[in-house]
Amino acid sequence: MKIFSGSSNQPLAEKVANDLGVPLSQVEIHMFPDGERRVRVLEKVVGEDCVVVQSTSIPVDHNYMELYFIVDALKRSGARSITTVIPYLGYQRQDHIFREGEAVSLSVVIKTLENIGAIKVIAVDLHSIKIPEFFSVPIIHVSALELFAQKIRSMFEPLEDIVLVSPDMGGIRRIKILSELLDNTPYIAVEKNRDLATGEVEAHVMYGEVKKIAVIVDDMISSGNTIAVASDLLVKKGVEQIVVFATHPVFSEHAPEVLQNSKARKIYVTDTIFVPKEKRFKKLEILSVSNIIAESLSVS
Ligand code: R5P
Repeated sequence: MKIFSGSSNQPLAEKVANDLGVPLSQVEIHMFPDGERRVRVLEKVVGEDCVVVQSTSIPVDHNYMELYFIVDALKRSGARSITTVIPYLGYQRQDHIFREGEAVSLSVVIKTLENIGAIKVIAVDLHSIKIPEFFSVPIIHVSALELFAQKIRSMFEPLEDIVLVSPDMGGIRRIKILSELLDNTPYIAVEKNRDLATGEVEAHVMYGEVKKIAVIVDDMISSGNTIAVASDLLVKKGVEQIVVFATHPVFSEHAPEVLQNSKARKIYVTDTIFVPKEKRFKKLEILSVSNIIAESLSVS
């Protein structure tokens, strides 16, 4: 197996390769002054099973194009199979038509990837349970929830004082799975409203009883507003300590500031998306999903 990395998350690709005991294979990625990218595979791949690791996070479109080009280059160079590991799948929140006249952007990027030659996809904590149905090639959907459960146990065992919190109604399925992993720890949910035009978030109602410690769990943090408003509401309801677990640190706009200034004590995310130095903040801790990805590659 040969593992290649796009430029979006090379540290994770290196860890995955290391976990599998293989060196990271070489690909040259050049950016022209006008923003176009040119890629070139620097190793012989004829007859090889190849893997490309690329998170399609910020800058989303550039990272998708780079992924497409690497897959195309591998195919043209004679690779036997090409598996794409997309730890964070960009456009996954655009998986249906919300308002008349919109595109289903996720469907477009997936069709393109498949047409170019990816024969299998590995993805982490997809936004909705329906997303695997968009793929006509096999997709292995892995999760960071077990990793979160282990960390939560190590912090709060015997778990009596904690309640799990979904910061929106769309996260209920995720929170139920985590609750089961944590001996049926109780969970509650916040009902949030987002203005699709401005992106502004409001937390309205909370369903369920709070406890001393609240553990908010989400699939991704983008602007950080969902976490900030949910934390405000939890404190109003009497919670004394809040910690947050979210798989994907999208961290757009002023997210680091919003999160650092929020009422949460600690924010745990994973390395599905590389967080550059300038986006790191005191309350942040990054857990690695490399083992989970390496394991799914070794059994598939
Ligand atoms: C929404 O459905 C997702 O699960 C996240 O809650 C959301 O994308 C977070 O976005 P933001 O950080 O911008 O509020």
